[in-house]
Amino acid sequence: MIRVIFVMGVSGSGKSHIGKLLAEVLKYHFIEGDAYHPPSNKQKMASAKALNDADRIPWLQTLNSLAVEHQSSGVVIACSALKESYRKELMSSLSFSDCLWVFLHGSFELIRQRVKGRTHHFMPVALLQSQFDTLEQPQYGLTISVSTSPEDIIKTIKNSMMQKSQFGIMGLGVMGTSLSRNIAKKNIRLSLYNRHLEGKEEGVAQKRIQEYQELKAAQGFDNLKEFVSSIERPRKILMVLTAGPVIDEVIFELLPHLEADDILIDAGNSHFQDSSRREKTLLKHDIHFLAMGVSGGEKGALEGPSLMPGGSHKAYSQVEDILSLIAAKSFNGLPCSRFIGKGGSGHFVKTIHNGIEYAEMQLIAEVYQFLQQGLAYNNEQIADFFASWCATESNSYLLQISSAILRQKEGQNYLLDLIMDKASHKGTGSWATIAGAELGVSVSMMAMALNARQISALKLEREAMNKIYKSQYDPKHIAVSEIKKAYDFARLLNHHQGFELLRAASKEYAWQLNLSEIAQTWTGGCIIKSTLMNNLVEVLSKTERILMHPDIIAQTRISSEALKSFIMVSVESNIPSACFMEGQLYFQLMNQVRSSANMIQAQRDYFGAHQYQKSNDSSNQWYHTRWSVFKDDL
Ligand code: 6PG
Repeated sequence: MIRVIFVMGVSGSGKSHIGKLLAEVLKYHFIEGDAYHPPSNKQKMASAKALNDADRIPWLQTLNSLAVEHQSSGVVIACSALKESYRKELMSSLSFSDCLWVFLHGSFELIRQRVKGRTHHFMPVALLQSQFDTLEQPQYGLTISVSTSPEDIIKTIKNSMMQKSQFGIMGLGVMGTSLSRNIAKKNIRLSLYNRHLEGKEEGVAQKRIQEYQELKAAQGFDNLKEFVSSIERPRKILMVLTAGPVIDEVIFELLPHLEADDILIDAGNSHFQDSSRREKTLLKHDIHFLAMGVSGGEKGALEGPSLMPGGSHKAYSQVEDILSLIAAKSFNGLPCSRFIGKGGSGHFVKTIHNGIEYAEMQLIAEVYQFLQQGLAYNNEQIADFFASWCATESNSYLLQISSAILRQKEGQNYLLDLIMDKASHKGTGSWATIAGAELGVSVSMMAMALNARQISALKLEREAMNKIYKSQYDPKHIAVSEIKKAYDFARLLNHHQGFELLRAASKEYAWQLNLSEIAQTWTGGCIIKSTLMNNLVEVLSKTERILMHPDIIAQTRISSEALKSFIMVSVESNIPSACFMEGQLYFQLMNQVRSSANMIQAQRDYFGAHQYQKSNDSSNQWYHTRWSVFKDDL
């Protein structure tokens, strides 16, 4: 709270009147500056002689001592303080942020009229003119017109005394609340906003403030205008809202309250093209936009998420400190928050993170299914295998939680056995798959992970098919150590595909993505953090194509045979290992010197004259053939 207020202006600006009123309202001590001139100054002024700077020094020093003396209980000082050097003297041994300067401003003519109207206080025009000549307007504090009513002047001063928040957060669901608590713990002054929905979401921000100790100092709002004006400029507002049209609606509502250079950050799982459109739209209003991927769920948001901010670099440089402070730390002690690139790149990178996450989850699910149905291990045994794998290079957050999930009980039962085998998804897996198709990059493992979820959801249809075709397991043996090798290799292929997609997107959209830095951002706080990801930071700093790195080549030669064996056994056992198979197929297809595509090109040219190139013609010329006609009897 501000405890020292200087009300300043030329004679006749009303500083004493306003100062007194303000002191009464705030219950602060009032000091009329002119009353503290030393007798020598008073004599000089009485003989209509102007004071020089040297005359003023002892007077300013007295006022400064009085300010310091009354600071703890609050003080308002009315004083002309026309020059910057006088104001510096008045503030010496006080901290600038503890003082508020209120400059009562009016034109020469306006002030002259006011002074003329005063019977008890008349000042010669020449003296008033010399005050205006001396005046150096302060470039800080409040400048308020003398023609404003005293009530409004007091109101403006009181409003500005409430210290503004450094950061605003909109949307106080699970993620918004956790991020707020994380930010508040770093001693950042927060304004929190949640919409008011009659009977459903009422007084949410205030409730959160009461609920969580860390949020005690935050200001809570359900009024958008008040929320925005409580934040210091340029405002930094983090939106933690459900992705989709809601983001556009909220931006539309916010816009009239925002001002040039304010910064909006979308921390949801938005589609990258929506984000780049929003950035362009907001820029027309001089508002800077950051499209920021956030990973780590509720725990990550609270304790340190992985952050993928992209969009306006100008905006990023202003929030970099806060983001680095709240983000997780990587294995090598760096913040898991790096500027990704322009436009919607931050959200694109988060989408691909989720695509990799889908396949990582599916691989674990397939291993679980095989160990259970093929090798007849129980939940505890499978949990033990996973836990022992976590003690090796296979360690990952997802494998650790899967081991814990396998052991969780509900009453007498393992909870996992009670959970319906129908998977849900919110869309980022399909966006990643579509991005792969559009950019011509195979992300077959994430696509299959998505398909597996979609097929799992067709439970009734699956049961109906099974009644007819009676698919049954026919377990065949394979050593668990072989499955582990296959798993490690499949993960490598999944990461290779994901980063290949990022590489292609970077080229297509001119984002200049730094793949090694992205991997580093994913080594802490996020769902796909793992020992493999730690290793990829180094690998990707040497080559952007994971499977071409010498260390990876050596590892691949050992484990690719295990992948083949596991797939063969799973096929014979009639237990689907779909994501593993996609990995194997990708590896096989990528390894062919001669593919089957000559036949595809010939077919295309036959029925559509689409042309083909010849392998014995290095000029890359295109050919069309008048193919021999055959009798179509279909
Ligand atoms: C994360 C998660 C998070 C969310 C997924 C869930 O990185 O923290 O990816 O963003 O859990 O979006 O997505 P699905 O519902 O599609 O599995």
